[in-house]
Amino acid sequence: MNETENVRTHFADRAGTYDRSSAWCTDDALGGLMLSAAAPRPDHAVLDVACGTGLVSRLFAGRVRRLTGVDITPEMAERARDVLDELVIAPAEELPFADGAFDLVVCRQGIQFMTLPDAVREMVRVTRPGGRVVLTHLCAYGDDDRDEYAEILRLRNPARRHFFRAGDVEALLAGAGCAPVRSQRHVSVEDVDVWSDNGAIGEDAREAIRDRYRRASPAFRARHAVAEADGRITDRMLFVVASGTRV
Ligand SMILES: C[S@@+](CC[C@H](N)C(=O)[O-])C[C@H]1O[C@@H](n2cnc3c(N)ncnc32)[C@H](O)[C@@H]1O
Repeated sequence: MNETENVRTHFADRAGTYDRSSAWCTDDALGGLMLSAAAPRPDHAVLDVACGTGLVSRLFAGRVRRLTGVDITPEMAERARDVLDELVIAPAEELPFADGAFDLVVCRQGIQFMTLPDAVREMVRVTRPGGRVVLTHLCAYGDDDRDEYAEILRLRNPARRHFFRAGDVEALLAGAGCAPVRSQRHVSVEDVDVWSDNGAIGEDAREAIRDRYRRASPAFRARHAVAEADGRITDRMLFVVASGTRV
């Protein structure tokens, strides 16, 4: 299987339970940060890239003129259809839209699976000058937790191609021609047993994840405030909400 097929297969397996596979999926505080970063207006046309089941699109529904979603996994994206004005099955690296077609382009937890920087350049291309691109992504806190965290996240989702530290997402927007670029942080408290039960990995991988947390370095444990009570592990996961204005 190539990388695209890996992603499609993984998310086709997860589509039915995706919305409850992490606390961050439906975290109102994270959604609120994304809305404040995007500042949607009633006359705006919005594109949700890697829209998945439409959780991000739902934040914008009723606030904007037109809502378009794009994704490569039909099993995920069909669940977003009811909230969208238009659903397109296409890769983010080749968005089938004209230059400057949107006032706002948003993408949460998508760029880890994409060819970079190509996909971010495409998002900027389809945003009008003065419009905004908002990327929201899980990140390592720094160099001292990055490698261990990448290992844990790959166990949960082997289709992942990139892993970011705080600062990397902002740099992608700046490199694709956005200025200024601003960012905010959000911490989501995740129960590792709930988070690893994503419908696409087996019990062996879930046990490997628990084991990796139990063997984590002191630096990782401190950064993530890893806690274990009654056999359940929690991790304080960092999200970066980065927004850039298309020059
Ligand atoms: C973790 S889900 C995020 C869904 C949604 N954005 C959210 O925050 O709930 C990742 C989504 O990215 C989509 N995806 C991955 N690679 C893609 C690509 N190259 N182009 C478009 N969509 C992609 C997957 O099909 C999946 O629906």
